[in-house]
Amino acid sequence: MGPRGADALEAGLAAAWPGLRLERVDEVDSTSSELMRRARAGRLQPVLLVARRQTAGRGRMGRVWRSAEGASLTFSMALPLAPADWSGLSLAVGVAVAESLHGAIALKWPNDLWWQRRKLGGILVETAGTGGGAGAARCAVIGIGLNLAPVEPAEAAATASLRELMPAADAQSTLERVAPPLAGAMAQFERDGFGPFASRFAARDGLRGCDVVVRDGARVVLEGRACGVDRRGALLVHTSSGMETVSSYEVSVRPVALGD
Ligand code: BTN
Repeated sequence: MGPRGADALEAGLAAAWPGLRLERVDEVDSTSSELMRRARAGRLQPVLLVARRQTAGRGRMGRVWRSAEGASLTFSMALPLAPADWSGLSLAVGVAVAESLHGAIALKWPNDLWWQRRKLGGILVETAGTGGGAGAARCAVIGIGLNLAPVEPAEAAATASLRELMPAADAQSTLERVAPPLAGAMAQFERDGFGPFASRFAARDGLRGCDVVVRDGARVVLEGRACGVDRRGALLVHTSSGMETVSSYEVSVRPVALGD
């Protein structure tokens, strides 16, 4: 990457979120773990932390997130946020990332990036801070992992890679595409909440119309047909006993036909 690319990225970040600075490391356990440690220690400055390698990448629900240098883009963005309503934040992140990448990328509720029903990327949203209640500022740490190429050959059939869609994609060019719009979307979310993102999520909702099983760990909570999301971003599932809403972050959803 030439200095012009780095300068342009930094300028784009600062334009989207005043004071947002870029920090690069060769190796860290997890960009999200590092920014959560800082936030818990009271360091709440907005920062985008990009790592070439993660030694202990984390996914949702305590899963491991595997990545490899050159085959993955891994970064986290820490922003002090004080929206009136936090609901739908992780869906808004997914919308922003998908829109900045490619028109063919879908979202699998709540926020997996999907292409041809294979996982292209994952999003982990965590918050830290002392504030509580409506309008209180907390630090949101938004971790993004994107597959640029298969991380392990054995996984190539089950996961998607950005280079299938965008053959020239590399970590730097992808970061430049994704990060400034993501910061801008978070400014919009803080101001206006999930509302402006709802129709944009619907346009990329990969689960809509699919038969799904909602699980809490190994326990099946409900089965039915996914019918989009409500105005707070909760998944709507039409079951044999009526419409149910699913909002828990700990629930996993799978199209029945695809199995686990
Ligand atoms: C998921 O789909 O389960 C979420 C995966 C999130 C992975 C990213 S990679 C950058 C950041 N650091 C982490 O340890 N996790 C997130």
